[in-house]
Amino acid sequence: MVRVPLSPSTPRCTSRLTTLTGAVGSVVDLGRGRKRKDNNPKTNYFSRYGPTKSFQGKTVVITGASSGIGKALALRYAQLGSKMVLAARRRDLLDDVVKACISQGTDAIAVTVDVTKEDDCKKLIEEALAKFGSIDLLVIVSSDRNVLTPSQILNAGRGTLMPLRHVKPFELDFMKSLTEINYYGCIYPTVQALPHIRSSKGNIAVISSLSAKVPSEGRAFYAATKAAINSFYSCLRVEEPDITVTLINPGFVSTEINDHSFKPKGFKRHMEESSKMTAARCAELCEGYISRGVIDEVMTPLGKFGYFMAYFFPGLVDIISRQKSKQISALIPE
Ligand SMILES: NC(=O)c1ccc[n+]([C@@H]2O[C@H](COP(=O)([O-])OP(=O)(O)OC[C@H]3O[C@@H](n4cnc5c(N)ncnc54)[C@H](OP(=O)(O)O)[C@@H]3O)[C@@H](O)[C@H]2O)c1
Repeated sequence: MVRVPLSPSTPRCTSRLTTLTGAVGSVVDLGRGRKRKDNNPKTNYFSRYGPTKSFQGKTVVITGASSGIGKALALRYAQLGSKMVLAARRRDLLDDVVKACISQGTDAIAVTVDVTKEDDCKKLIEEALAKFGSIDLLVIVSSDRNVLTPSQILNAGRGTLMPLRHVKPFELDFMKSLTEINYYGCIYPTVQALPHIRSSKGNIAVISSLSAKVPSEGRAFYAATKAAINSFYSCLRVEEPDITVTLINPGFVSTEINDHSFKPKGFKRHMEESSKMTAARCAELCEGYISRGVIDEVMTPLGKFGYFMAYFFPGLVDIISRQKSKQISALIPE
């Protein structure tokens, strides 16, 4: 497989090209029966990007660090010797992650934060600065867990897998709460941290989703919030040449997210946890993208293929998604 060679100085302006060449490469690899490259930690998956930036001894702030991808990222950066500031609402879990980071020989603090509250986000940045004096990397991981709990939705047994024709007007409150966390919950800490990251010429990374790129069944509300942050951070990148902004769009990752999301009653997403990427592997890839200043990455060969298809053959992707949507609708009681 011939890949387009990119010089180390070009990664910031070639993200779409690298995604597309990666997608084509992955499809060819799959067609030839080769092992999927980014499921193999030993493969130098990042060879097509630029030189790496080290965050050893630098201050890394992570929102959503109490579980899943955020926790895995915290452990990864602690291993690499970063000074950690970890934020989430569940203090007990956060304290455990802090202990695990400290056991790696680095310094770490926990800050209890609800990212939908501006004051909490201000406090997070103030505490990070008070403890470590600077902020070099802000990673936004926090997501929609626990906000999908208006009793109406819980009782109706509907949630993130919810085709729009089943949405009743009162359930639109759900959309507002999702926006609060998935959109404003990213922007509040970013705005607070911006002057400090600007002065350290640091990085911001946001965990978005493949849903923002590829339309899928029952995910309109969630995908819309992720597409909104993708647009926000793309503009931020243009406005802030001294800050490196990385958008990461994972596919399926084995975390708590599905345990807490609400689905139609009796609906089972027929997907084995073992077929998903592990949080640790996801964190490893994220760390690689961030340290190489990748702009906007779709994870996994299959995700890249989906993005490629949605970009060039949107009608075909619609047809496939509609079929899945019908399957979900059939499981929702009227
Ligand atoms: N797992 C996947 O398949 C997948 C796929 C694509 C994208 N993603 C994205 O990856 C990110 C991480 O998700 P995950 O899978 O790791 O889920 P997760 O295990 O449920 O983690 C979500 C994190 O967000 C925190 N959080 C939720 N609401 C918060 C709030 N109001 N204030 C502060 N922190 C809050 C949670 O901590 P507390 O509850 O302690 O506050 C938790 O640490 C999300 O942005 C998600 O959309 C996940």
